[in-house]
Amino acid sequence: MRLRNVKRAFNRINDYEKLIANPMEYKGRWHTYFNNDNPIHIEIGMGRGRFLIDKAKKNPTINYIGFEKFTVVLVKSLEKIKEEGQMDNLCVVRYDAQDILELFDENEVAKVYLNFSDPWPKERHYKRRLTYRDFLNKYKIILKPEGLLCFKTDNEALFDFSLEEMNTLDMHILRETRNLHASPWVQDNIMTEYEEKFTKEGMTINMVEARYSSQ
Ligand SMILES: C[S@@+](CC[C@H](N)C(=O)[O-])C[C@H]1O[C@@H](n2cnc3c(N)ncnc32)[C@H](O)[C@@H]1O
Repeated sequence: MRLRNVKRAFNRINDYEKLIANPMEYKGRWHTYFNNDNPIHIEIGMGRGRFLIDKAKKNPTINYIGFEKFTVVLVKSLEKIKEEGQMDNLCVVRYDAQDILELFDENEVAKVYLNFSDPWPKERHYKRRLTYRDFLNKYKIILKPEGLLCFKTDNEALFDFSLEEMNTLDMHILRETRNLHASPWVQDNIMTEYEEKFTKEGMTINMVEARYSSQ
């Protein structure tokens, strides 16, 4: 998208049908937005949206909600969604994950995706990482007991930190790899924009899938 078009889209952000203007109104009743009781999967920090769009096209019986806090990034995903035409199982919110409990009731979500979350490498910023225990505790509340958290990153230090944080919450690791693209799980993998960029640069991708209960 050219800068001029991004600016125009930015100014008309509320015209996009797939951007939920008042997402708090759907707390505890997202099924009324989608008009069905299908499972809800969310991606926090969806960026330009390729992952979520591909997921939604591949899995029409799952409802997808994308979170993005920056409007300038969000407009790019909204444009892409518009180009796809009719997509009944996908919508987007402009929200900070910090406030996620304002949007979902307990046990309302089946899966949370964190893809290439900002690493916040400075030690003093560790509480901003989306896998810090305060965030993990919030995902725990909105996820169903059997719900899943799936995290991918190129960043080794963030991956180590995230595994430690999951450990403090006694989370149960179902899948873990330091090289997703050389693992059997690559078959189901859908690439994100960042993933494609890092992979082309020769970096390996870390992935962990975990849940809060051991059952
Ligand atoms: C490095 S990008 C990755 C984008 C995409 N997931 C991908 O893999 O291509 C991280 C994105 O997360 C968004 N983000 C970071 N912190 C967030 C938060 N607290 N709530 C919502 N979005 C956030 C950023 O604005 C950015 O677009």
